[in-house]
Amino acid sequence: MHTIAFYNLKGGVGKTSAAVNMAWHAARWKHRSVVWDLDPQGAASFYLGVDGERSYKAGTLVKGKQPIGRLKVPTRWEGLEVIPADISLRNLDLKLAEAGGRSTLKHLIEPLGEQSSLVLLDCPPTLSPVAEQIFAAADYLLVPVIPTHLSLRAFQQVRDWLDQKQYRSLKVLPFFNMVDRRRLLHVEMLVKPPALMKGGLKTWIPYSTHVEQMGEHRAPVGEFAPNTPAARAYRNLWFEMADKLKL
Ligand SMILES: Nc1ncnc2c1ncn2[C@@H]1O[C@H](COP(=O)(O)OP(=O)(O)OP(=O)(O)O)[C@@H](O)[C@H]1O
Ligand SMILES: [Mg+2]
Repeated sequence: MHTIAFYNLKGGVGKTSAAVNMAWHAARWKHRSVVWDLDPQGAASFYLGVDGERSYKAGTLVKGKQPIGRLKVPTRWEGLEVIPADISLRNLDLKLAEAGGRSTLKHLIEPLGEQSSLVLLDCPPTLSPVAEQIFAAADYLLVPVIPTHLSLRAFQQVRDWLDQKQYRSLKVLPFFNMVDRRRLLHVEMLVKPPALMKGGLKTWIPYSTHVEQMGEHRAPVGEFAPNTPAARAYRNLWFEMADKLKL
């Protein structure tokens, strides 16, 4: 099992959109996938057509009193399940802090490997204790970055934090999202990526209204607009990732 977290300290950069689209592609290629919606806003659950019909308490989960597997809900796509967000996740920080250590989330995720080959974590934009647990639990941290100075700055803060805390087995893979080739700055950053983006994914996702329409369709882009630049970009993002995972 591989755990991929979609994370950035900055909000609204495309974490949820990328997580949902990548999970959908993985499932289409017969890799059973679970998206764990760790953001109490519940956007990933919403995009996957699941409304938190089953609720759970972060505290009960962290104490191990509720098996994680029971929280999985099927989506309308074969091989793609979701652990919906629950409003009690706003307490997850507190509950994880109470549990102590930094591997509680990692241990909670482990049993998902019995049935799934990929776990995709859709993370809230924060550097809180939940984020630290996510860094310890994930094999890969996929970081969407908008080609702007502010977005890069937020990513720099994440890098600095990670360097300081030394999550040795975590591989950090930034990629550009919301690229608008009519903007000079975006083109410049694509042509000559800043050093900070080194080692990241080569695929970039264009700015596209089709991504925005996911909320209307409650589906990944490939489902309702398959032959569009955004759908192709998400497919390439998956291929690039699958290559890294040797899938
Ligand atoms: N490539 C794109 N082109 C156009 N719009 C996009 C693109 N990627 C994301 N968006 C839009 O930007 C908004 C934020 O995207 P998304 O919810 O995926 O970001 P997020 O990083 O998960 O946000 P949050 O920090 O609030 O969880 C959404 O309205 C989404 O439709
Ligand atoms: Mg999100």
